[in-house]
Amino acid sequence: MQSRDIYDLGRNSMRPSFIKQSTWDKVLNFLATSKEMTPFLLIDSEVVKEKVELIGKRIEKAKVFYAVKAHPDIEVVRLINNLGLNFEIASEGELKLMRMLNVSAERIISSNPVKSPHFIQEAVSYGVNLFAFDSATEVDKLSSLASGCNVYVRLSVPNEGSDWPLSKKFGVEPDAAIELLLYARDKGLNPVGITFHVGSQCKNIYNWSTAIYKVVALWEKAQKEGLKLRILNIGGGYPIRYTKEVIDIPAIEEMINRVLKKNFPEMPEIHIEPGRAVIGDAGIFVTSVIGKATRGDENWLYIDAGVFNGLMESIGGIKYTYVVGSRAAKKRWILAGPSCDSFDVIDREVLLPEPVVGDHLLILSAGAYTISYASEFNGFPIPKTILI
Ligand SMILES: Cc1ncc(COP(=O)(O)O)c(C=O)c1O
Repeated sequence: MQSRDIYDLGRNSMRPSFIKQSTWDKVLNFLATSKEMTPFLLIDSEVVKEKVELIGKRIEKAKVFYAVKAHPDIEVVRLINNLGLNFEIASEGELKLMRMLNVSAERIISSNPVKSPHFIQEAVSYGVNLFAFDSATEVDKLSSLASGCNVYVRLSVPNEGSDWPLSKKFGVEPDAAIELLLYARDKGLNPVGITFHVGSQCKNIYNWSTAIYKVVALWEKAQKEGLKLRILNIGGGYPIRYTKEVIDIPAIEEMINRVLKKNFPEMPEIHIEPGRAVIGDAGIFVTSVIGKATRGDENWLYIDAGVFNGLMESIGGIKYTYVVGSRAAKKRWILAGPSCDSFDVIDREVLLPEPVVGDHLLILSAGAYTISYASEFNGFPIPKTILI
């Protein structure tokens, strides 16, 4: 028998307009028929397929590599493999997935600018032949462990307007980049290109054009130095909708393509490595309300997933959309996870009708960087991923 809140979730007004009716129907059908204990993450395979069909289509000579870190569940990776994407990996664990799915080495790159020596050895023995770097130390490592392999330098670019900036930890300025490319050549590596990352969940379209203009100047300098670059890897960063609307991928790609065509006499091979945009909005995190409390004038709502077992990005700036199947009056809540740690607070500004303990609380657009960050802290299990 369906529980009351699932029936209420099925009312027309409960589905946020950015969630497809077919996705909503699949989720409700799953909840009505499955005995799976919450928390778990449902992934709508149809949405993943639509995203794979969209990404990279408006950029000439584009090749798309799924950034496995966004969601490394084997069934997710199998689906993405069957849909024909290539892969970007950073560790032995991600390489193991590639091995398990028999992904050929030509379809794998590693854009992590600082790799462990053991990972480099394993990747090279598998046949991977395209690695990022951004320091002389990395060049030294690659030249001794992956002699002759193809390498590309990570350029530092503005990350303003990205919810998850990545620029401080990695990347070098153009003068250092040219030095490093030349050093890589001298050390017996084959410098083939340049990469950058505008920051994850990038909502500022100008980050891409600014980055490309920076690349153009470096590319020309490299050519003058006799380097024959042929690959430009524009990283990830494509945004998804969490709460507010974001600029859409075709618009971003049309702009990127225009800037590239205007500035490169011959279009380089363009590598794109999206993670969030491939899997993020296909995911609906299903949790249950486990408690409520009033503390002074604050209403606290506790659910069975939190910062430590799936919702880590909530403390770094990602704000989700939540849905409960309740007809009660709306209240302002502080939403918290199940662990005993006071760090485990997901959102301090949530407006929701009051649910009862045991009701479902759905978290939308939660397919990326949720389960991949989860731990079993305090004995709470890592939520299962289920394709629907
Ligand atoms: C090197 C690299 N490539 C690709 C990605 C994926 O980025 P996004 O999920 O924003 O598409 C990341 C994310 O951290 C990254 O570090």
